[in-house]
Parts: sequence; structure tokens; C-alpha cells
Amino acid sequence: MSNQAGIIPVSRQPKPPADRQTALTRARYDRIAPIYDLMQKFMERGAIGTGRPRLWSHVAEGRVLEVGVGTGQSMDYYPRGPRVTAIDLSERMLQRASKRAAELGLDVDLRVMDVQHLDFPDRTFDAVAATCVFCSVPDPIVGLRELKRVVKPGGDIWLLEHVRIDRPVIGPLMDALNPMMVRMMGANINRRTVENVRLAGLQLITVENLGGELVKLIHARS
Ligand SMILES: C[S@@+](CC[C@H](N)C(=O)[O-])C[C@H]1O[C@@H](n2cnc3c(N)ncnc32)[C@H](O)[C@@H]1O
Repeated sequence: MSNQAGIIPVSRQPKPPADRQTALTRARYDRIAPIYDLMQKFMERGAIGTGRPRLWSHVAEGRVLEVGVGTGQSMDYYPRGPRVTAIDLSERMLQRASKRAAELGLDVDLRVMDVQHLDFPDRTFDAVAATCVFCSVPDPIVGLRELKRVVKPGGDIWLLEHVRIDRPVIGPLMDALNPMMVRMMGANINRRTVENVRLAGLQLITVENLGGELVKLIHARS
């Protein structure tokens, strides 16, 4: 049943069908949802924390989609204006996001959805944003192609992502530690997200290093 605004509560939305990797990702985030904010505290003190307001300062108006909203850590910085649409694979993460939106008095359209199969028509959004998401999406190029499809022509895509550091020792070390990190945190630490943006056919506008080469603020267009 939907509420007065026509939004179906997160707990009543059907889970999107998932392949094995996507189902595993969903299960991992459902499992860590209660402790996610605690786990994230360390990252928030660094480049991710400073990058959030920076990212959202670019997303000022129009119809906006946040992908992989998680527990809603970026909601403090949402533009005041039209309702933001925010999706996530994990119902448990979204339940926390829903609570945070209520606490902040925000009207957010929260949906259980897989970025690899977005349930929106082509050219729906003026801008899309994501923070620390394409490290977890099983097929990031498929997900990024979906962003290209749902954003309006020339629309902006802003990503704040930790990536593989392409240096002789640290890069291979990140590769070696990656399987353990995926099991513990649900996230790959060795994703080449800038390259993936290009491979998805998006136009790369800028890539800014935030605090060394680990975290990047990526601006792309459809
Ligand atoms: C590391 S958390 C980041 C959450 C939030 N963006 C933040 O900045 O705190 C990654 C999020 O991406 C979501 N996610 C992973 N794969 C996804 C997919 N295929 N579609 C939608 N969301 C996905 C996870 O459920 C999780 O909430």
C-alpha cells in the first residue's frame, strides 16, 4: 500500500531479481546495515567526509537521483527544492536512510532498486550522484551505463569513489587484500572507476584527487 505521496514504504517494496553476485552484495549490506555508520566513521574523517559537501554543492537543482544511498549519509547536503529520488539494493540500508530522512525533515523518494537495472525511463534525471557505490556494484560498467541512460542529454553525473592506487607496490597489495575486504565490508578496494566511467561511454569532464590518490571526485556527462 502506498502513502498519501504515492510512495511505497521501503519494507513493502519488492526486492529486484538478482544474479548470484548481486544477491551476495545485497546480503552483505543487509548484514552490515546496523553497524555501517560506525564502520564509516573513520572514512568520514578523511576525504569522503570532506568530499560529500563538495560533491553536493555541484548538484543544485532539477530532478536528482542518488544511487546507493545507503543509510543516507549524504542527506545533510541534499539540495533544498524538488524531492530527491534515492535508490539502494539493500532494504536494511534503506530503512536507515528512511529514518534519517524523517529526522532531517526531508521528503525523499526511497526505492529498493539495482543500479544495474534501473526502473526509470530514459532521460529522467538532470543529475545523478553516488558516494562509495561503484566499489560494490557487481558489474560497475553495466551500472554506469544505466546512469548514462537515465540522465538527460548533457546531464551531470558526480561520483565520489575510493579507487585502486596505480602504484607499483600499493596497487598489487590492494589486489591481494581485496577478497578479504569484500567479505568484511562488501566493497572492492581495487576498482578502476575512472577507467570504468570511460568504458561505460560517459564523457569524463574532471577527476579531482581528494587526499592523495585513493579518493576521487569524478564529474562525467552522458
Ligand atoms: C559503501 S556503501 C555507501 C553508502 C552511501 N552512499 C554512503 O556514502 O555512505 C555502498 C552502498 O551501495 C549499495 N549498492 C551496492 N550495489 C548496488 C547496486 N547494484 N544497486 C544499488 N545499490 C547498490 C549498497 O547496498 C550500499 O548501501
